[in-house]
Amino acid sequence: MACKKVNVILLVSMLVVVMASVEMAEAGTCYNDCMIQCMPIKYATRPQCESQCDQAYPPPTTIKPPHHRRPAEVNIREEAALLYNSSGHNNHGFSAKYVPFSPDPASVDPFESYSLDEVVYRSQSGGLLDVQHDMEALKKFDGEYWKNLFDSRVGRTTWPYGSGVWSKKEWVLPEIDSDHIVNHLRRMKNPRPIVGVGCASTGDTSAALSAYCAAAGIPAIVFLPANRISVAQLVQPIANGAVVLSLDTDFDGCMRLIREVTAELPIYLANSLNSLRLEGQKTAAVEILQQFDWEVPDWVIVPGGNLGNIFAFYKGFYMCKELGLVDRIPRLVCAQAANANPLYLHYKSGWSDFKPITASTTFASAIQIGDPVSIERAVFALKNSNGIVEEATEEELMDATAQADLTGMFTCPHTGVALVALAKLRKSGVIGPTDRTIVVSTAHGLKFTQSKVDYHRADIQDMVCRHANPPVEVKADFGSVMDALKKKLPSFGHK
Ligand SMILES: Cc1ncc(COP(=O)(O)O)c(C=O)c1O
Repeated sequence: MACKKVNVILLVSMLVVVMASVEMAEAGTCYNDCMIQCMPIKYATRPQCESQCDQAYPPPTTIKPPHHRRPAEVNIREEAALLYNSSGHNNHGFSAKYVPFSPDPASVDPFESYSLDEVVYRSQSGGLLDVQHDMEALKKFDGEYWKNLFDSRVGRTTWPYGSGVWSKKEWVLPEIDSDHIVNHLRRMKNPRPIVGVGCASTGDTSAALSAYCAAAGIPAIVFLPANRISVAQLVQPIANGAVVLSLDTDFDGCMRLIREVTAELPIYLANSLNSLRLEGQKTAAVEILQQFDWEVPDWVIVPGGNLGNIFAFYKGFYMCKELGLVDRIPRLVCAQAANANPLYLHYKSGWSDFKPITASTTFASAIQIGDPVSIERAVFALKNSNGIVEEATEEELMDATAQADLTGMFTCPHTGVALVALAKLRKSGVIGPTDRTIVVSTAHGLKFTQSKVDYHRADIQDMVCRHANPPVEVKADFGSVMDALKKKLPSFGHK
């Protein structure tokens, strides 16, 4: 892109519905003196655990000797169970619960809370919920400790810490058993046993959910807006055996229907109305910091539709600051397609009354949402991170996508929206020339080949397609090929 000094990191999105659980496989027995014996040296940082050899807070670790190799006859989960049993059942006092979400915590009933095992999406007043962690318990360990712990899990296969989400398990869903990480859903407290997981989707949630459910042997039910998602998006849930309902409505219509259906049937909702989902998503923020050796970027730009991601990123960064891993949080930018820009309009109005809109068609189809579920969460995240909202027209986003591809990436239109925000903010000087900026890339370009093909054919109505690079049709003879090459490669032609 135009701003060369801006670092761009592209993170591929993941569905992080947290339906599962883990227990720690603790190695240590006390955090103080004997810690040095049972922990790698790098963990010998100043413990914040005040007590004398407090058994309740041994260092949570799954660290294994670097050359440990699981015996062939033991599977990864059996090994985790062995470690877990040998260490005794101890969850270090970490816990989390649902509480009503509110920008002003003083305004909510301090006694309203729900267990994360409950199937609950709304507070008593009908508002959103949030997952509240016992921060005091987490604070018994210092920032160095958490950084070392998370870093130690990267690239390993120790169940269940090998994944991006579960490597941060203590901050996600601390109280669950590793054996239930896949089928925890079946144990949730609901008057009727859960029979499956459902979502409304613009394509990507459904794909990830279907893959997860297929692996876990849980039925997946997905509601998709007919003719509004790409073939590559549609085919994923189909291939993974989900029940796919293609509905003659937009995403907002699908969302309304899945909410009605999940209120009637024991189907667990995987959309971000379910605030547990955001707990997994927030781990992407921790990963960003990890990838930058815990140096805080100045900006993080996220394409936004239903607005769960922007809040999740905020929450991840916020927890890293609160728990001493970093000393500040980045400024957040939410980037919207101009054809589906209710948050942008709200921002431009000075956060006065929010008005849902009917979103128009956009190539960034996953964010074609006019009535975002997480609007209040997004406003909170942006206000508390000194954030900004930007928008991108169809032409701008397609040009940005094509321009980024010219650097060797293969971006999706949503990433294009975020790149436009970067370019605009850079041009206006809001993002400085040496600011470190992260652009979150939320989908793979291969899911959007049709729009790319149309762009490179310059076959999009009312669009110049500045970076179109159509294949040259050439007769299959030497002379024609040479002529074509000379035309295309002028320096070659001059020789
Ligand atoms: C590819 C892609 N980009 C961006 C988003 C936006 O995330 P959110 O809806 O949480 O704002 C989504 C959401 O599903 C998505 O699938």
